[in-house]
Amino acid sequence: MSGVSAVILAAGLGTRMRSRLPKVLHPVGGRPMVGHVVEHCRQAGVDRVIVVVGAGREQVQAYLGDSVAYAVQEEQLGTAHALLQAEPLLDGARGDLLVLYGDTPLLRPEVVKRLLEAHRESGASATVLTAHVQDPGSFGRVIRGPDGTLARIVEFKDATPEERAVREINAGVYCFRLEGFFQHLRRVPRGPQGEFYLPDVLPLLMAAGGRVEAVAAAEEEDVLAPNDRRQLAQAEAILRRRVLDRLMESGVTVVDPATTWVSAEAEVGPDTVLLPFTFLEGRTRVGRDCVIGPGSRVVDSTIGDRSRVEFSVVESSRIAEDVRIGPYAHVRPGCEIGPGVELGNYAEVKKARLGPRVKMHHHGYLGDVEVGEAANIGAGVITSNYDGVNKFRTVIGPGAFVGTNVNLVAPLTVGEGAYVAAGSTVNQDVPPGALAIARARQENKEGYAARIRARARVRKEPG
Ligand code: UD1
Ligand code: CA
Repeated sequence: MSGVSAVILAAGLGTRMRSRLPKVLHPVGGRPMVGHVVEHCRQAGVDRVIVVVGAGREQVQAYLGDSVAYAVQEEQLGTAHALLQAEPLLDGARGDLLVLYGDTPLLRPEVVKRLLEAHRESGASATVLTAHVQDPGSFGRVIRGPDGTLARIVEFKDATPEERAVREINAGVYCFRLEGFFQHLRRVPRGPQGEFYLPDVLPLLMAAGGRVEAVAAAEEEDVLAPNDRRQLAQAEAILRRRVLDRLMESGVTVVDPATTWVSAEAEVGPDTVLLPFTFLEGRTRVGRDCVIGPGSRVVDSTIGDRSRVEFSVVESSRIAEDVRIGPYAHVRPGCEIGPGVELGNYAEVKKARLGPRVKMHHHGYLGDVEVGEAANIGAGVITSNYDGVNKFRTVIGPGAFVGTNVNLVAPLTVGEGAYVAAGSTVNQDVPPGALAIARARQENKEGYAARIRARARVRKEPG
């Protein structure tokens, strides 16, 4: 929708959240509410987004960065006053202005598009989005005249009992024709609570001969605008179900939606199965034909086709296809796990590049390592990569075999095809094809066990 600018009002304190975090930064589906609203604008084809910030503005700006422009509302004097702060940035802009509130994370882009289209078709001076809801709560009520056209919007706090009984509410999304708009906005009077209400511009536009339309294009679930943490949890539940529905419609099996949490930004390929108690967080991408879970958490990571992650945690890493992770493995940030790798019970890896078909079937720790193709890492292999100050790298060549309970003291290179004997503490490079043994030689003392027992019996105290 070219030629449309949008203003998002996000300067409010959000006191009902009882939080140090600005309300619009509280996440729903893993993404701050205002992030959802910016995304709605983009998907509706808006060219330019201006965000009005105030309370907690540094945090809001740090999150949104320079993807949007900012206007500042120093004092939170209401939504009309907030929009007024964007006027200088809109100087010279023509056409239509879309206005949204920063706390409406569930608005579907198609609803915003419908509002814009209705506004364009009718040629009205202003079009406001409304919804008929079961529970109108503290929303502004839409008061229509005898002929059914919009008369005004009354805030819940200021409404009479009859007005409160109205079930059509203001969704808080508006389209205004820019021409002459701000001169009317400036004339909005202070409301009964001492604030300047944006909906109060509508009667002013009408009094000046403009036409104002109210379009009931939103569903109850679109309009939820959490003002407190209970509503935040409601929004979370709705979004979670929407995300899972979208995945299931695209061919993903979600065995138990009640215990599966997928972020709004995650993507999952078809025929992948998400087992119970699985969390896919942030910008996670899972390929097709994978099995994730039960009990797994994958954060900001990519997982290739046909891979399995069982009772494990994967963070900020890239996992190739046909990989087996778990049960009880931890892939910490910065790993690149090659195709066909197997990471078994209690394996922990960090900043590890594992080549194709590397096997680490049992407990152990590999940090700051590069492991070549098809190397075998035995049970209890530990990289000593940290001297308390610095981190050092370990390189293990392709086809190398590192025996059980080996300490690899970095910096260190184990050459291609080399063997490291079980129980060794290795602190010098191992040449390709060599066998490294770094442990005390075994000595057997014949008959010694009986002598130890005899000595122990003598020492034993009576009783
Ligand atoms: C508002 C509407 C109400 C509507 C509801 C829809 C007004 C007066 N009321 O009520 O009719 O049904 O949203 O969700 O508009 N903000 C500022 N500066 C301010 C005050 C608010 O930027 O001075 C921002 C807030 O950060 C928030 C948005 O405007 O993102 C809405 O404010 P909020 O206090 O949540 O309004 P509601 O009481 O929910
Ligand atoms: Ca609100």
